[in-house]
Amino acid sequence: MKVTGKTAVYGIFGYPVKHSLSPLMQNAAFSERGIDAVYVPFEVSPENLKEAVGGVKALKVKGLNVTVPHKERIVEYLDYLSDEAELLGAVNTVKNENGELTGYNTDAEGFLRSLVEEGVELEGKRALMFGAGGAARAVGYALLKGGVKFLNVVNRNFSRGKEVGELLGKLGNVLVYPLKESTVEVLLRDVDLIVNTTSLGMKPGDPHLFDYSKIPSGITVIDIIYNPPETPLLKAAREKGCKTVNGLGMLVHQGAVAFEIWTGEKAPVETMREVLKRELYGGNT
Ligand SMILES: NC(=O)c1ccc[n+]([C@@H]2O[C@H](COP(=O)([O-])OP(=O)(O)OC[C@H]3O[C@@H](n4cnc5c(N)ncnc54)[C@H](OP(=O)(O)O)[C@@H]3O)[C@@H](O)[C@H]2O)c1
Repeated sequence: MKVTGKTAVYGIFGYPVKHSLSPLMQNAAFSERGIDAVYVPFEVSPENLKEAVGGVKALKVKGLNVTVPHKERIVEYLDYLSDEAELLGAVNTVKNENGELTGYNTDAEGFLRSLVEEGVELEGKRALMFGAGGAARAVGYALLKGGVKFLNVVNRNFSRGKEVGELLGKLGNVLVYPLKESTVEVLLRDVDLIVNTTSLGMKPGDPHLFDYSKIPSGITVIDIIYNPPETPLLKAAREKGCKTVNGLGMLVHQGAVAFEIWTGEKAPVETMREVLKRELYGGNT
């Protein structure tokens, strides 16, 4: 990579940010497209967020990704928001156009594109989503935008679930339930699509969300976790003959949508996916 006085600067705000895979993915994309740009990590602590956003304008940083814990708080420091970012109250991508900052949320579109790629249809489907965190908002939005018949949301913290239910209820038919074995068992009788948006399944030895032997055979099961590539939920679902999808596609496509917002060019999706696969799984999968 040759950095000169003309090289454009992009980056990611996070705290911590060391674990982020975005620099790897976006630098590979710039290089593949021959764009004179560099993408760097910025470790921004919550108390410095406002100054850091001011710094983006002062330093003419052309674009940003935003990760935990800044996705919600950055909203108040931006000039404009896309419809999705406004509804979700969260931003993961910022574009700087002549000093005016617009916030976008590419997680929902990234999730949808990953499903299109996997041939998963949403129209008229009965969906059951576990989790009510930041990712759940974007995924739930995407499911409803994709035309699911209804969305049942299950979360351990019921009041957090209710908040998400209220937000997503503006877009379609959404009901919220507490994470209880007997409740989940009933919900599993009426489902075409299960989506896990909780962090359960990332660590070896994590408890199961519910009794996975109850997954109906032949449905679609999606886990937005990308490491490990096959969580216990996905393994159980695959063994039941279900179609399974992990979170790598969502990760790649949320980055691809951000790249397209910044550059106006089509993202080199396969290059981005390969660089992530190599980093995460050493090329195995
Ligand atoms: N593929 C992608 O591009 C992508 C993008 C974003 C996130 N993700 C993944 O999505 C997951 C969630 O991210 P997030 O940003 O939404 O996190 P978050 O806001 O912290 O939400 C975490 C969710 O997990 C639930 N949870 C955590 N521990 C649990 C447990 N022991 N039992 C039951 N539920 C539990 C929480 O339930 P409570 O509300 O009850 O605490 C909450 O619903 C992470 O694994 C992350 O890596 C993937």
